Amino acid sequence: MSGRRILVTSALPYANGDIHIGHLVEYIRSDVWVRFQKLRGENCRHFCADDTHGAAITISAKKKGVTEEEFIAEVNKSHRADFAGFGVEFDNYGSTNSPQTRRFCELFWKKLREGGYVVEREIEQLYDPIEGRFLADRFVRGTCPKCGRKDQYGDGCECGHVYSPMDLIDPKSALSGATPELRKSMHLFVEIEKARDFLQDWVDNSGALQPEVANFLKGQFLSDDLRPWDISRPAPYFGFEIPDAPGNYWYVWFDAPIGYIGSTCEWCEKNGEKVEDWWLDPSTEIHHFIGKDITYFHTLFWPTSLRAAGFNLPTKVRVHGFLTVNGEKMSKSKGTFILARTYLKWLDPSYLRYFFSSKTSSSVDDLDLNLEEMELKVNADLVGVVVNLASRTAKFANLTGLSDVYPDDGGLFAEAAGKSEEIAAAYEECEYGKAIRIALECGYRANQYVESNAPWTLKKEWSALEKDESASQEARDAAKKKLMDVVTVSLNLFRQIVVYLAPILPDLAKKTEKLLNTKITGWDDVQKPLLGSKVNEYEHMMTRVPREGIESMIEESKSDLQRDVPQTTPLTANDSSNEAEKPGIAPWFDSDAPLAEEPLSETISIDDFMKVDLRVGRIVEAEQVKEARKLLKLKISLGGTQTRQVFAGIKAAYPEPEKLIGRLVVFVANLQPRQMKFGLSEGMVVASGPGGPDVFLTFPDEGAKPGMRLH
Ligand code: MSP
Ligand code: ZN
Repeated sequence: MSGRRILVTSALPYANGDIHIGHLVEYIRSDVWVRFQKLRGENCRHFCADDTHGAAITISAKKKGVTEEEFIAEVNKSHRADFAGFGVEFDNYGSTNSPQTRRFCELFWKKLREGGYVVEREIEQLYDPIEGRFLADRFVRGTCPKCGRKDQYGDGCECGHVYSPMDLIDPKSALSGATPELRKSMHLFVEIEKARDFLQDWVDNSGALQPEVANFLKGQFLSDDLRPWDISRPAPYFGFEIPDAPGNYWYVWFDAPIGYIGSTCEWCEKNGEKVEDWWLDPSTEIHHFIGKDITYFHTLFWPTSLRAAGFNLPTKVRVHGFLTVNGEKMSKSKGTFILARTYLKWLDPSYLRYFFSSKTSSSVDDLDLNLEEMELKVNADLVGVVVNLASRTAKFANLTGLSDVYPDDGGLFAEAAGKSEEIAAAYEECEYGKAIRIALECGYRANQYVESNAPWTLKKEWSALEKDESASQEARDAAKKKLMDVVTVSLNLFRQIVVYLAPILPDLAKKTEKLLNTKITGWDDVQKPLLGSKVNEYEHMMTRVPREGIESMIEESKSDLQRDVPQTTPLTANDSSNEAEKPGIAPWFDSDAPLAEEPLSETISIDDFMKVDLRVGRIVEAEQVKEARKLLKLKISLGGTQTRQVFAGIKAAYPEPEKLIGRLVVFVANLQPRQMKFGLSEGMVVASGPGGPDVFLTFPDEGAKPGMRLH
């Protein structure tokens, strides 16, 4: 096989939850990318597996009354079925609980030991005396020591306060309800601080990371000592026992990424390939597709482990954002926590593949599934533009076949063929939304061609001549040829678009192959028209999105009986027990655009700063200024009887001024008053943002009092 050798991984889904549409953001993204590479003729392979270890699995298996092995085997089947249903194909889909993964864990472990990375330490942890096991942070609940909220997780509260489970007031085991005891145990740690220089260089210079991700790592982790990574758990634990530390097991996050190699190895064994070619040969590219919540495992621990073991480092870690549905976090009660299999009962997977792809870019931004928008978009683009080309012309082509010589189409085919590299570059960068836009533009032009050449009229003319006994054979042939030429152009333009969208819509590609009696063999199929062949009878390619299907899916999702389904939200705690294996560290990815657009001003002294008298103020009156498009009139109290009137250009951002009443703001109190058309403005409220609806007032923290000075 020629071409680039490219290894692609998708994050290994936890084995104690069902696949839901949030997961599919990732697996559709990676599947499209791999299909694109394969269509281009690259030697690209996609590996994944179930992430099967950890305390949460034991608990789920117990609930079902089965062994852990039985439990993960069931889940594996159901995950495979869900992926297949969405057309997500893996070259190998394995399990981390495999001999291959164990072998590589042992190798990595040996190398980390030899590299001097491993240290032993005794730690104190909460222990459930009834269950007889140590408790991961998420398995302890209690009252937040800061705000007093009840029933909070052991690693952080809804209020945003982060603590250790020992700090909770009145802690209880989430497993048995027992009051946990503090107990000591020995843990093994990997000192990743030892790899700091390497990591810093890798983050800065490897080109493997999106800029937001690199900034996040530098701001959140590399700016401080990298804490040693606790990678062992005492028995009982479902996982692999550490060979040189009997009674201790590797923490699930140690073996999970090694599962990528285990899965590759399984595939190699079945296909006569060498795992070294895929993980050690420096000419092989490695691309990890992951969600933002697991960034630091893949960008700090994983490169450290790979390097210690002498394996290749990732070429790219492609991080994506999180899914919201109709603008909000997926919610069981709203029926927007939609399982893959529930979706498949009601809707065509192509809709979701298309819609997600249309929203996919190379950025880490979250992505919203607005179901109404999906309906409109699929109906307009796919049914109205793409499939429309075939549905309006294929039945005529079935009568005429395709012309032997490609007719004059005014340059449309050549123009679309010329977009090939631009679209390919967009796919390569995960800019699928852009790829779709370019392909659709070809579709608009093709539809215009069909409109203006009206094959339905040509068909009537031809039929009339066939019936007209006085018509000559030449006249009949000429009429048929005219029709044949028009449908030949239409279907060839259709075929180009189908090839361009084939990574996203493999199902449409298959149906097109059947219709046109051809195989889509590669990306370059767009360069050469299909000629002289017969066209099969047209069968439905895609129907409009059924509104009732969406409604039924939502209804059913409300009542879906769900196991402990994971819903990973990066910023707040939530209620799924398999989150136990994810730390509550909040990744945020701030772009460097604001600073780039507006560089910092020149340095000032503290005295310069103190000239500006900033005070806490309370908004006591707020109203629209009718004659002014942008202004709100505010009355700001500085405490006691001191008030100031200001006109603030924040109307677009705060269209309901009454909602501002009572709020504290930061107020520039010693600004020269300014006479405006509507009255005197006696200061300024502090806000950020470019303007219009993007203006953000600055609010002081709870406890500040009007009149207090900012310093
Ligand atoms: N088991 C770990 C990954 C180990 S990789 C060595 C895990 N599993 S998961 O099931 O929680 O998530 C699997 C992937 O799906 C992750 O990349 C995660 O970010 C992604 N998503 C899970 N929920 C998601 C959304 N709601 N939205 C977008 N992606 C989501 O993490
Ligand atoms: Zn709290």
